[in-house]
Amino acid sequence: MEIQYLDWNNSNQILNKAYEAGLFVLIIGPKGTGKTSLVRDFAENKSINLESINFSLRTRESHLIGTKTLTDGTVSFDEGILIKSMKEGNMLYLDEINSAEADVLLRLDEALDDRRQIVLKESTGEVIKAKENWFVIATINPLTHSGTKELPPQILSRFPVRIRLEYPPENIELEIIKKYVTGEHESEIIQAIKLANILRQAAAVEELFYSPSLRETIAFGKLLGKGMSSKEVAYFVFGNVYTQWGNIEYQKVSDIITSMFGN
Ligand SMILES: Nc1ncnc2c1ncn2[C@@H]1O[C@H](COP(=O)(O)OP(=O)(O)O)[C@@H](O)[C@H]1O
Ligand SMILES: [Mg+2]
Repeated sequence: MEIQYLDWNNSNQILNKAYEAGLFVLIIGPKGTGKTSLVRDFAENKSINLESINFSLRTRESHLIGTKTLTDGTVSFDEGILIKSMKEGNMLYLDEINSAEADVLLRLDEALDDRRQIVLKESTGEVIKAKENWFVIATINPLTHSGTKELPPQILSRFPVRIRLEYPPENIELEIIKKYVTGEHESEIIQAIKLANILRQAAAVEELFYSPSLRETIAFGKLLGKGMSSKEVAYFVFGNVYTQWGNIEYQKVSDIITSMFGN
């Protein structure tokens, strides 16, 4: 199913200008606020080839740079996505870059500085220069999210254009959900968005451990379409997850669901 991205805060425009100016972009926002969809949509509209990597503690330099391989007695170099995107002038999407380890970031930093080049010490030692239209977009989650680290200032400075992507206003969220589900059940979906926003606000002030995203409100709409009751779906999609942090945490949310969706 191909979904049209709803550009509700004009992110496309600033992405365009940054692209034309050759400035790299950082998108900051909680999970499920549409960061990846925005970037995919932008690349598609501009017909730019997109190379993506999702960082974790297990991402190694070799994922970015490449690895030597031996086939039939000949050594060749299998280029990683950083090298590939630089050579081809593609768009490189560095998702959750603040999950990367320091050594990986250091190697990235080499390529991202103003010379836009990197020494391929893993192979022949040649200098790889990025094509003119090479474009890099990175995302980070706000620091309140567990497991995220602060991005070092020198890496931050490689991305001088910063887009904030938050949860959308209620009416916009409804419009986005409607792209995924039929027009029925509107009042229940509005109620679910309200619930999501209550939980998001509680999570923002650390009263709850988890903040539901657009993935959840979209899932709510989809399940309602399968003939389930809104209260039932609210538990499956919004409530039950809090059991991970124990019964007290779950009970807090359960009370809210009961008060909003009835007994
Ligand atoms: N503005 C939007 N228009 C259409 N779909 C959206 C929008 N924002 C979020 N979504 C949908 O919400 C879900 C989460 O979005 P995603 O881009 O994966 O978020 P993130 O990368 O920030 O975690 C996806 O199913 C996505 O298609
Ligand atoms: Mg994403």
